[in-house]
Amino acid sequence: MRLYREFASWWPLLSAPSNYAEEAAFYERTLRAASESTARTLLELGSGGGNNASYLKARFQMTLVDPSPGMLEVSRALNPECEHVQGDMREVRLGRTFDCVFIHDAVVYMTTEADLRRAMETAYVHCRPGGAALFAPDHVREIFREDTDCGGHDADGRGLRYLEWTWDPDPSDTEYVVDYAYLLREADGSVRVEHDRHVEGLFSRADWLRLLEEVGFRPSVVPLEHSEVEAGTCEVFVGVRPA
Ligand SMILES: C[S@@+](CC[C@H](N)C(=O)[O-])C[C@H]1O[C@@H](n2cnc3c(N)ncnc32)[C@H](O)[C@@H]1O
Repeated sequence: MRLYREFASWWPLLSAPSNYAEEAAFYERTLRAASESTARTLLELGSGGGNNASYLKARFQMTLVDPSPGMLEVSRALNPECEHVQGDMREVRLGRTFDCVFIHDAVVYMTTEADLRRAMETAYVHCRPGGAALFAPDHVREIFREDTDCGGHDADGRGLRYLEWTWDPDPSDTEYVVDYAYLLREADGSVRVEHDRHVEGLFSRADWLRLLEEVGFRPSVVPLEHSEVEAGTCEVFVGVRPA
């Protein structure tokens, strides 16, 4: 994905931290409700630019893991008080456990069942017994809808506008595609257009629940509650590591 390499510094103009307050509060609520005792530490895998973390860090002591040096740099600027580690959610091993583990939209980059299971195993080994892990895929097979979206922001003289086009070329496999067109306006006023294709994973609710159970979690599905998301169109998965 070009977004997380050559365009990483543009991330806050595509997705501004200010848009994350309500959903971060939902994730906190859901993790606390699932945890069997008070949660103080939180590991986020695929933390990207750290937008959720910019809210969750007030409620948890956070460690943020992402493979992209550019995205880690953006997140360090926003969240200097958080520990940052470069790593892949399929294989990173920090040698310690956390009260909770969180994988937000970065889990969509798990496009095969084998990779999704590896990410769940990483969450499991880092979750203390009695703790909870939350996975927030953008789409689940049963409620997947093709869609287009657009947006963008301005800051420090630069601006970005994007068109996001979500579609599924082959409904029989575990992937769908998100094509992005970015208009990138530099401080000198010049504008260029770039295309970026993200291939993302699509799994059924039953697959999510089965894989979570197979790696050792006690799984459940929770509908996302958000004022800008139509009820019933988005759900997250929670796994409790048995005490
Ligand atoms: C949309 S961004 C995440 C933004 C984040 N939810 C936030 O609150 O700012 C997706 C991130 O997933 C990361 N990613 C992609 N593949 C990954 C992998 N195998 N392991 C961990 N992170 C991955 C990318 O580097 C990127 O930073």
